[in-house]
Amino acid sequence: MSGRERNVMHYGGDYNPEQWGPEVWREDAALMREAGVTMITLGVFSWSRLEPRESEYELGWLAGLIDLLWGHGIAVDLATGTASPPAWFVRKYPHALPVTAEGVRLEFGSRQHYCPSSPEFRAATARLAREMAKRFGSHPAVRLWHISNEYGDHVTECFCPVSAEDFRRWLAAKYETVEALNFTWGTEFWSQRYGSFAEVEPPRALPGPGNPTQQLDWRRFSSDALLACYRTERAELPAGVPVTTNFMSMMRDLDYWKWAAEEDIVSDDAYPDPADPLAHITAAMNYDLMRSLRGGQPWLLLEQAPSAVSWRSVNVPKTDAQYRLGSLQAIARGADGVMHFQWRASKAGAEKWHSAMLPHGGTASRGWARTVAFGRELTRLAEVTGARSTADVAIILDWDSWWALELEEHPSQLLRWRELVRAWYGPLWEKNITIDFVPVTADLTGYRVVLAPNLYLTTTALAARLESYVAGGGHLVTGFFSGLVDEHDHVHPGGYPGVLRDLLGLRIDEFWPLPASEPVQVELAGSVYTGTLWRDWIVPGTCEVLGSYASGVLRGRPAVTRNASGSGAAWYVSTLLSHSGLADLFGRVLAEAGVPSGPAGAEITRRGDYTFVLNHGDEPVAVPLPGFDLLTGAAYTGVVGPGDAAVIRAGHADE
Ligand code: GLA
Repeated sequence: MSGRERNVMHYGGDYNPEQWGPEVWREDAALMREAGVTMITLGVFSWSRLEPRESEYELGWLAGLIDLLWGHGIAVDLATGTASPPAWFVRKYPHALPVTAEGVRLEFGSRQHYCPSSPEFRAATARLAREMAKRFGSHPAVRLWHISNEYGDHVTECFCPVSAEDFRRWLAAKYETVEALNFTWGTEFWSQRYGSFAEVEPPRALPGPGNPTQQLDWRRFSSDALLACYRTERAELPAGVPVTTNFMSMMRDLDYWKWAAEEDIVSDDAYPDPADPLAHITAAMNYDLMRSLRGGQPWLLLEQAPSAVSWRSVNVPKTDAQYRLGSLQAIARGADGVMHFQWRASKAGAEKWHSAMLPHGGTASRGWARTVAFGRELTRLAEVTGARSTADVAIILDWDSWWALELEEHPSQLLRWRELVRAWYGPLWEKNITIDFVPVTADLTGYRVVLAPNLYLTTTALAARLESYVAGGGHLVTGFFSGLVDEHDHVHPGGYPGVLRDLLGLRIDEFWPLPASEPVQVELAGSVYTGTLWRDWIVPGTCEVLGSYASGVLRGRPAVTRNASGSGAAWYVSTLLSHSGLADLFGRVLAEAGVPSGPAGAEITRRGDYTFVLNHGDEPVAVPLPGFDLLTGAAYTGVVGPGDAAVIRAGHADE
């Protein structure tokens, strides 16, 4: 892809050919061509057809289908086919089925029924991947390898004895001695000392609160165990064709920084809920993450629903405008293709009520008309492929800190990292600020503003880097319950907020979290806003107090602060300010940092020489810019109608 595939804005979807016969395949190939499909994902759930009996491979039917598609000019994103082990596999290797924390072995009959640490599962997937690579590795249609499918979708962890043994190996490699493990896990607490690694088990169902460091290591191990499955397959694939595995947007359980480093191209499956009027803002945030995972490299939207899904309690379809704007939004935020689940709607099985590019109603349906129309429209955006965005503002995303934040027995159990970051992202989205997500190891110097809605786990090394970032002129904004523990979830000594005390120029005497139904008032720059979730009893040091609590027991005490340091400043927000409160605060920060806000009223993003204007609202929006609108093929008018979009190439209006 990227590079090799410049100028193809991919369009297509998952195709599950085993649900149909060769006659339908031929009809589908012709219809795909009619719709402008450039690439099809094949084989995701084909294992039982590709290997009907152990080590007996039947790939001929797939070869015929790939030839058929290629004959119609359609490339293939070829799955290794390992996402759903066949019945013969689980009957022969019943211990490869996953086990829950409560000890329930999950049965065959759905998908993803495997223990990530199972040596039999890994060996079987390696063999199938090897056969696939041998047979199809040099086929000109194969443009992308798709390993497994949505790792962690249903099974993110397994508690069986094999996983326990793998966990112990992982721990022994990390700690070397059981004394080191005892110290790090704080096992003097509640008499949890281990005499040897052999005594350690996964954090299964427990009578009371578990050991937090054990749980944090378990999260790390579980992400690594699935990553090892990915690596096992990857090792079988030939060099030359890029490799991906489809991510699940901003997913908690897998450390996607680690994963993305082992892919050639990031791909995402995105399912914004059409019933949620703000779903496009969450989608924008997820797409920014996908663009960021490999440092701004274009990515692929590998799955989205053409309309309704089948797995929510109520599955509302997409309007034409929601579909089109949602698809263009992914491209605006770095995608070089829009793919779907799935090409043809299933007749049977758990997903038969899921929408498809070719609905049950066939070519007579509105859905089909939309599939054809968007396929045509997408060809107009081919020149956008490969273009990159730049950002002045970054948000720190650290999976270690996310996992640690959501452990048990905290001052509040209501904190969810994804909700905190979404709350902060909203007002920035409204101001059309481009956001990069960055890991804790990133070089921050290129960003004028760095946001950390929460950094519960902050290492001393990170704190030092944040200090030099601010001293060098950066603006750091951090939220409550940050800076407090090290990488082992041990409290930093000396009081709160731990290693961020000096940088923020304050002390927190005590956390004062808010019950769910009890908001607090905060006075900030002459306005009063609502705060939820959290409060701190702040004792200001060198910081300036920007906002104070205006109600409740902390009335009159600081709520929002700013500490100048060098030529930058570190800002602290001790409650979850309402949307308008955050908009006000961020407005101040951005102005001080010299980050210009875009015009409001529509979603506006830049990608290289192209400006995308997406109007999610009900009124026309004027965004005057000189240029050529790729979507209309004419000079850009400066106005984008409700539910409409423009993709403007900078320069002369007359092309
Ligand atoms: C995920 C899976 C697909 C399908 C869709 C349905 O994205 O990867 O196989 O189940 O969900 O929305």
